[in-house]
Amino acid sequence: MSGHGTPIPMTSRKSGPLRGTANVPGDKSISHRALIFGALVIGETKISGLLEGEDVLDTAAAMRAFGATVDHMGPGEWCVQGVGVGGFSEPDDVIDSGNSGTGVRLIMGAMSTSPITATFTGDASLRSRPMARITDPIGLFGATSYGRKGGRLPMTIVGARDPIPVNYKVPMPSAQVKSAVLLAGLNAPGQTTVIEKEATRDHTERMLQGFGADVEVTESAEGRVIVLTGQPELKPQKITVPRDPSSAAFPVCAALIVEGSDVLVPNIGLNPTRAGLFTTLREMGADLTFENEREEAGEPVADLRARFSPELKGVEVPPERAANMIDEYPILSVVASFAEGATTMRGVKELRVKESDRIDAMARGLEACGVTIEEDEDTMIVHGRGADGVPGGATCESRLDHRIAMSFMCLGMATQKAVSIDDGGPIATSFPIFEPLMKELGAQIVRANR
Ligand code: S3P
Repeated sequence: MSGHGTPIPMTSRKSGPLRGTANVPGDKSISHRALIFGALVIGETKISGLLEGEDVLDTAAAMRAFGATVDHMGPGEWCVQGVGVGGFSEPDDVIDSGNSGTGVRLIMGAMSTSPITATFTGDASLRSRPMARITDPIGLFGATSYGRKGGRLPMTIVGARDPIPVNYKVPMPSAQVKSAVLLAGLNAPGQTTVIEKEATRDHTERMLQGFGADVEVTESAEGRVIVLTGQPELKPQKITVPRDPSSAAFPVCAALIVEGSDVLVPNIGLNPTRAGLFTTLREMGADLTFENEREEAGEPVADLRARFSPELKGVEVPPERAANMIDEYPILSVVASFAEGATTMRGVKELRVKESDRIDAMARGLEACGVTIEEDEDTMIVHGRGADGVPGGATCESRLDHRIAMSFMCLGMATQKAVSIDDGGPIATSFPIFEPLMKELGAQIVRANR
């Protein structure tokens, strides 16, 4: 879906206490991969707990366009009849990935080693994001790309007729790029090697192994080395998608800053490549506990319990943790606003090329709400004002970015004056039940300007 129609202004005001259980939706990263891998397997892959947000629904539609049968069986229950590795057929129309960088980049990788042509587009946010990070490596396999200036969408990709395997060092910490290369490597004969200097989320490696591909991961002086043997015969799977730690971050962080709160967020995937925020929050002095720690579908899972934490302290977030919490910096900057002292986030320049420039979006909104921010290309420093010390009282831009919209809505639950956003529409891309779920806990959110 391109664009989000009529803007939905939203306002949140001092709330609480937030109390109860927050059942957040399925993991977005795993949901995209479940549909794409399911489409690359002959036979029936059954998925439960799929995130039914716009991003993932766009990927489901794309998989149908490439020839897979994708059926919605019930809430969160999906069934994919795949076409096999190399079995994609040519879509007869443009693929619209809406707001989803993960969707479009993984699909570009997956189709790039089949002899078909496809044209991709998305909403204004996705059309502004860099795609050379995908077209460069898929070019090494033999695919050709024709995009707009700066490698932007819309873009047509002509898949390689005789793909060759590649050895690729990913130039930036990006699980999307790593995954696109591995997906391209699936239909190339021989071994495709991906090297990443910093470990990024490893769902693709884990899930490919689960589907029966030969994927070996080792550590070297250069970083993580992932070797995939191409043209495997994948076997259909039953996948239970864990709940999304990146969505859990919102009720968890809101509970930490709203007086009197005590919120349980059950069944959260705590893959170590995703859990950096929770480590950081504990370092800040957050009352956050993991209960009932266990393993489900090969992923570590726990119930998170977050309670109001009036004595949060600013911290230095180690740059080497950035990849493990890259989507959580916007909401961390909100929590940091209620801490004593500065919270320094370095090594975060990838935030500038997300659904929006997230450093700029958060800095401008927080400043408008009375928080002092320092920033450079790769750094953001939030000067905390302590519990109950943030004035609020502004309307912030959500910039077609779901995580920016939800972060400012959580901010307003604890500021002295209400906080508004110009458009809450993008929230539906990843967390369609955010508004009712937060209201059920006690949050004061309305669909209107202040
Ligand atoms: C994702 C990877 C990350 C993340 C995005 C989901 C994935 O993007 O920000 O929300 O599922 O692979 P990058 O690869 O750009 O870091």
